[in-house]
Amino acid sequence: MVNVAVLGYGTVGSGVVEVLLKNNSHLSRRAGEEVNLKYVLDLRDFPGDPVEKILVHDFQTIVNDPEIRVIAEAMGGIEPAYSFAKAALEKGISFCTSNKELVEAKGAELIELAKENNANFFFEASVGGGIPVIRPMFACLTADHFDEISGILNGTTNYILTKMDKEGLAFPDVLKEAQDKGYAERNPEADVEGHDAGRKIAILASLANEKQVSFADIPMEGITKITSADFAYAKALDASIKLLGTERKKDGKTYAMVAPFLVHSDDPLYAVDGVFNAVKLHGDMLGNVMFYGKGAGKHATASAVVSDIVSAAKNPGRHVPILWSQEKLQLADAKEYPFRFLVRLEGEADTAAFGNVEAVKAEGVTGETAFVTEEMTEKKLEEAIAASGASLIHRIRLGW
Ligand code: HSE
Repeated sequence: MVNVAVLGYGTVGSGVVEVLLKNNSHLSRRAGEEVNLKYVLDLRDFPGDPVEKILVHDFQTIVNDPEIRVIAEAMGGIEPAYSFAKAALEKGISFCTSNKELVEAKGAELIELAKENNANFFFEASVGGGIPVIRPMFACLTADHFDEISGILNGTTNYILTKMDKEGLAFPDVLKEAQDKGYAERNPEADVEGHDAGRKIAILASLANEKQVSFADIPMEGITKITSADFAYAKALDASIKLLGTERKKDGKTYAMVAPFLVHSDDPLYAVDGVFNAVKLHGDMLGNVMFYGKGAGKHATASAVVSDIVSAAKNPGRHVPILWSQEKLQLADAKEYPFRFLVRLEGEADTAAFGNVEAVKAEGVTGETAFVTEEMTEKKLEEAIAASGASLIHRIRLGW
């Protein structure tokens, strides 16, 4: 029997408990032995709840119980999750988490600690919720070098952008509606400013490069400046606008960023709407592969956490290697990566400073000059804007 503890009985933690109880015979068969939920840790009490009898308030009860083989954490935040993960792994207890802050900041160190103690640190649910993407990266796509990762990694912003696109609504109105429906947080900054997607692309880039890519080094642009006029131009270009977390290589350098991109209708990311997430990887042998599904939500995220529990249960005393060292990867300046840009300037502007451009007209938008540039770095674009003497309304990168 594999005894398991769940830390945190909030949305994801209660989902993990539900999956462990509801699908127990099925997942126990897959684990090769019975998976038994022995403890749930939370500071609160839950009278009348199925977990009432196994609820504990002190982590020491769990970590000092020699029967516990796997701990699943769904508390969020770095502390106390980090201290709990270290204490568990030092005892050879495998640790599975959905906590992207913990994984981004301490993932490499905790994998190393797991290795030293013949245990596992798994984190499938930390990126893309229920979508399998981390395990495929370290266990299935092992033949390839990844030269590009581009993902819709945040459901809240994708929901907002989809509503703006399909219903012609303005950002503040859709945000308010999303908050009223409980899709968006009351404090939406982490989502709409791209920070949540930034942590997730940092984790994926770390796995792709087997080194530490830090959230703090990734430039992030959110979606707050996107307007219905931008969507009118997107339509004219047969595209949509998506917030992408992206990491890509060029001339031996690695670039990463989070920003809104125009995504052409030919791109599989174009059709990813609403709260759904997708991660598109480009392998040097495989070409493009895309993982799509529910990037958040109680049951989807719990499904990924429980699959990690099953993997940990199937590997008693054996560390499953995940290559991610603590050595820092120096990212190149994202302003040096060449993109094509949609540029919108006020009034009748002179475009000579931008080189060859393609004019774009959008239905219902007047009083401005809009065009698509050839590939150029953001630095060159900024110089061209200054040289033109025109006032910039907005510029958005093209994803093709
Ligand atoms: N706030 C996140 C999202 C939740 O909207 O995708 C999942 O990490």
